[in-house]
Amino acid sequence: GSIAAFIDALPKAELHVHLEGTLEASLKMELAHRNDHPLKDSSAEAIRAGYTYHDLLSFLNLYYEGVELLRTEQDFYDLCYQYLRKVASQNVLYAEMFFDPQLHTRRGIPFATVITGITRARKAAERDFGIRSQLIMCFVREMSAESADETFTQALPYLDDIIGVGLDSYETGNPPAKFAHVFARARAAGLHVTMHCDLDQENTHEHIRQALDDLASERIDHGLNVLDRPELVARARERDIVFTICPSPNDVIRPGCGRRDLRGMLDAGLRITINSDDPGYMNSAYMTECLRSAQQTADLTRAELLAISRNAFDSAWIPDAERRQYL
Ligand code: HPA
Ligand code: ZN
Repeated sequence: GSIAAFIDALPKAELHVHLEGTLEASLKMELAHRNDHPLKDSSAEAIRAGYTYHDLLSFLNLYYEGVELLRTEQDFYDLCYQYLRKVASQNVLYAEMFFDPQLHTRRGIPFATVITGITRARKAAERDFGIRSQLIMCFVREMSAESADETFTQALPYLDDIIGVGLDSYETGNPPAKFAHVFARARAAGLHVTMHCDLDQENTHEHIRQALDDLASERIDHGLNVLDRPELVARARERDIVFTICPSPNDVIRPGCGRRDLRGMLDAGLRITINSDDPGYMNSAYMTECLRSAQQTADLTRAELLAISRNAFDSAWIPDAERRQYL
């Protein structure tokens, strides 16, 4: 069979997707109508045509604008249910999904509204499509450490529905160390830990070092700049760190480097997974499209694709009994 058919049939797990970044232009139209929210654009096509970005900041501006459309528990339910329905059709068996509660609570939307809608959708999608999923709560790094702490306190009644914590949004000037306190609280509560070290950010090597040495991060989201520093590569291998790589933003932020980056990670003996990040804003490239793109870019073999997919199941934050069902 063709490599495309091989990728279609591959059992998949996604470990790096932002639920708010799965908001499709079509759902935006529906939410705008439902919530009586004026939109600049009058069609889904026009919305998509406006999706141009060239770096993290210009991407985040689009993402934050879209977030405004999410208001009610039903909105969060629809967002999550539609993502899970879509990827279940791509043979994604398991997904760990980021969400950014502070982008909602700072607009006056209760934490409970956000997590209740998402959790209901996760259960419905498991019932309807058999897809399992869990939630990783991200802190918005340009907001204060105090705000992150308050958010963790708000999450305490819902910790059964949250498997880990992460760190995302605007990285410049917002190192992992800024959040040492809230990450220590999360670890003490038994949550897993990951964090973004986005591509080519200022002080990226120091951010990666802090994630590895100071914050006990179990994964690094993106983290491609690890390749610039042999000592960081060695440290990541020693700690068996998984790097959740997302071809879509990388191809925009550092065009033409996908082959070198992916081959570099593999040749360095690092554990990587391939993920979608924000498919609603990235040409609706969900898991299958991202794996196809990575395969073509780096000439990945079937054995490499299988190993990448296994990395995701191996490092998923699930009990071993569940893991054995997938592997
Ligand atoms: N990096 C940082 N913040 C984000 C991202 C990302 O990839 N996606 C959504 N928020
Ligand atoms: Zn991300």
